[in-house]
Amino acid sequence: MKMIAIVGSLRKGSLNMALAKSMQERYQGKFDLEIADIGTLPYYNTDDEEHPGDTVLKLKKQINEADAVFIVTPEYNWSIPGVLKNALDWLSRGDKVLINKPVLIAGVTPAMLGTVRAQLHLREILSSLGISARTLPAGGNEILINMANDKFDASGRLVDQNTLTFLDQVVDKFLQMI
Ligand SMILES: Cc1cc2nc3c(=O)[nH]c(=O)nc-3n(C[C@H](O)[C@H](O)[C@H](O)COP(=O)(O)O)c2cc1C
Repeated sequence: MKMIAIVGSLRKGSLNMALAKSMQERYQGKFDLEIADIGTLPYYNTDDEEHPGDTVLKLKKQINEADAVFIVTPEYNWSIPGVLKNALDWLSRGDKVLINKPVLIAGVTPAMLGTVRAQLHLREILSSLGISARTLPAGGNEILINMANDKFDASGRLVDQNTLTFLDQVVDKFLQMI
């Protein structure tokens, strides 16, 4: 099984990227997780929609060929970062590669509320006409990793046992849904 991760932070020391990489390692027996590069996408422009360029075409191809998508996002000002919204806007047009695609959502923050507001916005966006992705119901399945500086080790690996146990449960439910 193949999954593509879209990470909403471009920062070198990103905690959200650390989660994607931790999951890549932890679940390698269950699925291949390839991490997409959304930092090189151009700004979405309707004028370019029919010929969007190589980076957009590559992302669409990766998603088309994947069984599922994993979106890991920080919260910026109570919503998702612009770089992630930009990627989703590209993916919502032309060949709409996210329609009916299973999408798992997660977010990491050093703060208290664990990206809950960003994830609520993300769920609305994923329900829009051009995206219409399939997600697990929010209740019981929200991967909200708060106070994250204490939950990853110095090499960026997620080590908090309670979080790992919960993650395993949600990932299993997601794989069943697929
Ligand atoms: C522009 C900006 C806005 C932010 N807004 C929020 C916010 O609304 N809620 C929150 O929990 N953290 C907020 N943060 C803090 C981020 O959660 C924190 O920087 C986090 O580490 C970013 O994710 P990353 O480590 O994957 O880059 C914000 C950070 C930035 C740079």
